Amino acid sequence: MENEKSKAEIEGGELATGVPPVSSPAKVVFAHPSEEEFARILDFYRIQWQYEPRSFPLNWEGSPKVEMFTPDFYLPELDLYIELTTLKQSLVTAKNRKLRRLRQLYPDINIKLLYRKDYHRLLAKYGYGPLGKAKIEALDRILLSAPQIQRRVSELGAEITTDYVGRRPLLVGVLKGVACFMADLMRSISLPLTIDFMAVSHYEDRANGAVRIVKDLDQSVTGCHVLMVEDIVDTGMTLHYILNYLAGHKPASLEVCTLLDKRSRRLVDVPLKYIGFEIPDEFVVGYGLDFGEEYRNLPYIAVLKPEAKAEPTTPEGSR
Ligand code: IMP
Ligand code: MG
Repeated sequence: MENEKSKAEIEGGELATGVPPVSSPAKVVFAHPSEEEFARILDFYRIQWQYEPRSFPLNWEGSPKVEMFTPDFYLPELDLYIELTTLKQSLVTAKNRKLRRLRQLYPDINIKLLYRKDYHRLLAKYGYGPLGKAKIEALDRILLSAPQIQRRVSELGAEITTDYVGRRPLLVGVLKGVACFMADLMRSISLPLTIDFMAVSHYEDRANGAVRIVKDLDQSVTGCHVLMVEDIVDTGMTLHYILNYLAGHKPASLEVCTLLDKRSRRLVDVPLKYIGFEIPDEFVVGYGLDFGEEYRNLPYIAVLKPEAKAEPTTPEGSR
């Protein structure tokens, strides 16, 4: 908010010295409650933030008192400064003038002036935020933000690229939870490759007896370098079954890449070559993962509130 930084703070070594270290949110004392609210929203979406990390000199010619501008927040993942503002018109006008000046002097700095009502609109623009009120209410918290996921998927893709040089991997996904991960992962592998999908029945469909393949691969895996791509490995029972099935068809190699590993729940030991994130024993949705077919389109991965899980609208367990 409107904040005139004391000279002492400015002289404390943070004067336009580039990006300082990430502040520890626990220790931050906010000048205004709406700043704290904004910080909480950012925390919810797992967006990194720094509070007032940098002061920009705006006017230093011929005046003993340097005019400074200190944006409220910096969001390193978005390379974006945020200045929050009230609806007080007199302050807004002065602030707009400062902002114009800052943009003139520092054209490479990305800064936005935000009104309270703009919080969610801004987050939505960057792929965060609720896709609907009902959806967000069932979510406890964001576990992995969209940029966190994207960064890790790129790393996995780079690792796989290095490991498979000279071989053509066949990426095999199990529908439907793997849709987002497969789409992003294959685009971060810079090698010729092929993809295929299969679908299996689940315990919830137990009327059909044992687990079985309800959609088989279109192509033979014999002699292929098969890389199983999984959204999440939980007990490991599904994957164990599929790996046995694939191994029976004599691929040249067979490895697993999973985005999420809920290791504490593992019952069957399955060899995982590439792991995106190890996550706690909580039910997660988003980025392809569903609860009763919902939430697959969330761009982030969130923990579902246990009470939301207790009242399923549709049967759970469809992948
Ligand atoms: P597993 O045989 O227990 O390893 O089952 C793995 C499958 O269960 C995944 O492919 C998901 O479809 C589903 N699953 C397990 N945990 C979760 C979760 O937290 N959210 C959504 N689906 C899950
Ligand atoms: Mg599922």
